[in-house]
Amino acid sequence: MSTTYGTHPGTGLPETVQIYEVGARDGLQNEKNPVPTAVKTEFITRLAAAGLTTIEATSFVHPKWVPQLADAADVVDALTGLSGVRLPVLVPNLAGLARALEHGVTDIAVFVSATETFSQKNLNCSVTESLTTVEKVITEAKATAGEQISIRGYVSMCFGDPWEGQTDIAAVVDVGSRLLEMGCYELSLGDTIGVATPGHVEQLIGAFDAARHPAAQLAVHFHDTYGQALANTLAALQTGVTTVDSSAGGLGGCPYAKSATGNLATEDLVWQLHGLGIRTGVDLDALVRTSAWMAGELGRPSPSRVVRALTSDGAP
Ligand code: HMG
Ligand code: MG
Repeated sequence: MSTTYGTHPGTGLPETVQIYEVGARDGLQNEKNPVPTAVKTEFITRLAAAGLTTIEATSFVHPKWVPQLADAADVVDALTGLSGVRLPVLVPNLAGLARALEHGVTDIAVFVSATETFSQKNLNCSVTESLTTVEKVITEAKATAGEQISIRGYVSMCFGDPWEGQTDIAAVVDVGSRLLEMGCYELSLGDTIGVATPGHVEQLIGAFDAARHPAAQLAVHFHDTYGQALANTLAALQTGVTTVDSSAGGLGGCPYAKSATGNLATEDLVWQLHGLGIRTGVDLDALVRTSAWMAGELGRPSPSRVVRALTSDGAP
């Protein structure tokens, strides 16, 4: 399959971008039918073979809240031998941290909401309570696993919330700054329901910069509900962001935000980045084959435009 139509660099863009792959977690947490553990681990192994070096593997949230990821420990155990790849997992609280550490995890991600309504729906507590929990998780993680543990922070609903409307930029900066100051090595700005537009992205990243958190500390996490994810990514890259979250095949959604669809598809991101001459280390053909295989496992075509263009209809 032909995947190259030349390289045409843009101005003010980085030479390399780190892709933070979330398909196995954000993608699969919303599946109606349970995905067998063996399919999840084959998916992650194939993503690694396609050149993705950071793959969020699963989530140690409450299995009753997200039954799709109730096999988190089995997934982590099955991937023990996979080398050369970071496999972070989502951890919501101390109970989740204990489960993750028991299985040798050294890379975790904590998450809070910028808005009160989503905090209650997703974490069953207020924003302030969730920040207290995260602080305990970070302290305990460092005390138990040592300073080598990597802790990423996410803020959800950074641009808009289905119950509250547009999100206050100052609230996002406040919550996000707290996570960075607690010791997160990076902060991922989540557009959980995909409502952001490029100027809004520039404004938010500018507000973090004004609060002494430059773009180098930030990642972007766009869901593609309104088709804005690629445009928003380009806007973020132009501000100096170099880490982008995406989901192979465009899988995804959030079980506690009905209006959320899949993340920006990794294939669509890679197509754009490679066209701009930006290095990712990803083999697009191998990635497309992986997502087409996964589409077959899930029994529906991939929503990724690139997967569809490079296969007959996104199915194997
Ligand atoms: P809760 O019911 O309030 O929990 O849920 P609790 O603390 O009251 O505990 C109740 C019982 O659950 C206790 O057991 C705990 O031990 C147990 P009991 O004493 O009754 O026998 N428990 C657990 N068991 C296993 N693992 C755990 C755990 N925690 C408590 N981790 C909780 C609070 C946070 C657990 C729940 O609300 C939860 O799991 N929420 C997660 C929801 C979720 O996963 N959402 C999707 C991920 S976020 C996202 O997708 C956004 C993102 O992609 C960025 C973006 O797009 O914006 C990251
Ligand atoms: Mg998400």
